[in-house]
Amino acid sequence: MNASPAAPSPSAFPAVWLRDNCPCPECRDPRNGQKLFGVTDLDPRIEVVGSDGFLVTFSDGHAARFDPAWLASHALDGTVPDDRTEDAKALWATLTPPEGNWSRCLADPAHMRECLNAVLRTGFVLLREVPVEPGAVLEVAGAFGYVRETNYGRLFDVRVEATPVNLAFTGLPITPHTDNPYRDPVPTVQLLHCLSNAVEGGESGLVDGFNAAALLRAENPAAFELLASTPVTFRYGDANTELTASRPMIGLDPLGRIREVRFNNRSMQPVRLPYERTEAFYAAYRAFAEILNRPDLQVRLRLAPGDCVIFDNTRILHARTGFTESGDRHLQGCYADLDGLAGNLAVLRRREAVVDHLRALFEGPGADDYLGEEVSQAAHMLQAAACALRDGAAPELVAAALLHDVGHFTGEISGHDLMGGTDNRHSHVGADWLARWFGPEVTEPIRLHVAAKRYLCAVESSYHDLLSEASRYTLSVQGGPMGPEEVAEFESDPYARDAVRLRRWDDEAKEPEREVAGFGEYEALLHRLVR
Ligand code: OGA
Ligand code: ZN
Ligand code: ZN
Repeated sequence: MNASPAAPSPSAFPAVWLRDNCPCPECRDPRNGQKLFGVTDLDPRIEVVGSDGFLVTFSDGHAARFDPAWLASHALDGTVPDDRTEDAKALWATLTPPEGNWSRCLADPAHMRECLNAVLRTGFVLLREVPVEPGAVLEVAGAFGYVRETNYGRLFDVRVEATPVNLAFTGLPITPHTDNPYRDPVPTVQLLHCLSNAVEGGESGLVDGFNAAALLRAENPAAFELLASTPVTFRYGDANTELTASRPMIGLDPLGRIREVRFNNRSMQPVRLPYERTEAFYAAYRAFAEILNRPDLQVRLRLAPGDCVIFDNTRILHARTGFTESGDRHLQGCYADLDGLAGNLAVLRRREAVVDHLRALFEGPGADDYLGEEVSQAAHMLQAAACALRDGAAPELVAAALLHDVGHFTGEISGHDLMGGTDNRHSHVGADWLARWFGPEVTEPIRLHVAAKRYLCAVESSYHDLLSEASRYTLSVQGGPMGPEEVAEFESDPYARDAVRLRRWDDEAKEPEREVAGFGEYEALLHRLVR
């Protein structure tokens, strides 16, 4: 784990900020973390009247206790989370296209994470082996976000048409452009999936528009300023559609960083600036276009059937060379959005961090710890999980078997205290700790796995003799066999059956020589279960 920065004292924050960010359940709904009041509900003259470490008392009588780590990660240093500006990107002139494989994406969350990260950081990914079937592009978009339906439909076909509503539907070359600049908001992700490309020509080109804009800024700052401050109107019209949007070709964030490029000569409308400014605008527009057309700033690729490019339509310009209209070239495209993509990427990362954390427990404390048995705690839990798999348990219960003893390392009282005669309540500690990430199907059998031992000792005369010596010893520390009332209560618990199954695997999982699958075999399963 990374060392966290030293926590600032609450006095480093204004009273109104502290009061607004009180984390208590009266101020934030504990079920979702959402704030329960608005800024006008706060006393405008709010003051801090007392503080004791991270406990702050306010003039309105309220008291707030802050988590030092939370304060440290919210220091008043001007940080604005925004993964869309040039600062969050790896700009490129040309590069080997980042590639992914669609079936691997479906099987391996880490590969999916790499592909989505490429779209955010590099601006695109070339996915291979997407089924060559009409509509497959919608599945790809749906795997990381929501399809953005437009006037072209949920999906559009790019092929030669007799009466093209768009020059894309001809064999003409198309110079680098962004799509749908006439929409506000513009679709921020575009997918193009190749079903066939049996033509002369028809090659694709991709240009990093942020890199081109940054070059313009370096080479011709006045042109950059002009394009960044001049709204340009784009329009699309057909029998059923009339769309216009007016935005600058280079969009900046409030801090002046490049955040969006809109560029499309086909749909740009006449500018209507004062005479002199019109000429200056044209010079700047030409300067930007000349950069965008530089061959050494373009990645070229020839899409083959099954290839699907996913790209950031606010940054990457796409182009194609002309092709013979008689040949067979068919792409299908759709749009989606970057915020959904970024959100799914963040969730994948969060789940991966949980799996990493659990792996570290298995490789660290779990591997070294022997609690009166001949197997380490890690080996014991891996054996229990292998038993669960062998018996066809549901993934949740396999995860419960795998994690059932983590409470020995995560609590304040260790497994060694249990062996020393103090009940460390590891089943409850482990279940509570895991509940941050896993649902009750995982945590509740864990919570009950010690109770299940006490239960089985009460109801199954032969069970006690099956227990290991250490387990018989801990039984006494944990309260001995259940009495009749406890038995009835246990049996009424909806997770009692799962807990009993888990218990039997637990008792079986103490063989020093048994070879079983390692933690890595369970990572995808755990990843899918993290909430
Ligand atoms: C488009 C487009 C590129 C191509 O449909 O928006 O630019 O390769 N098509 O046909
Ligand atoms: Zn296009
Ligand atoms: Zn156990």
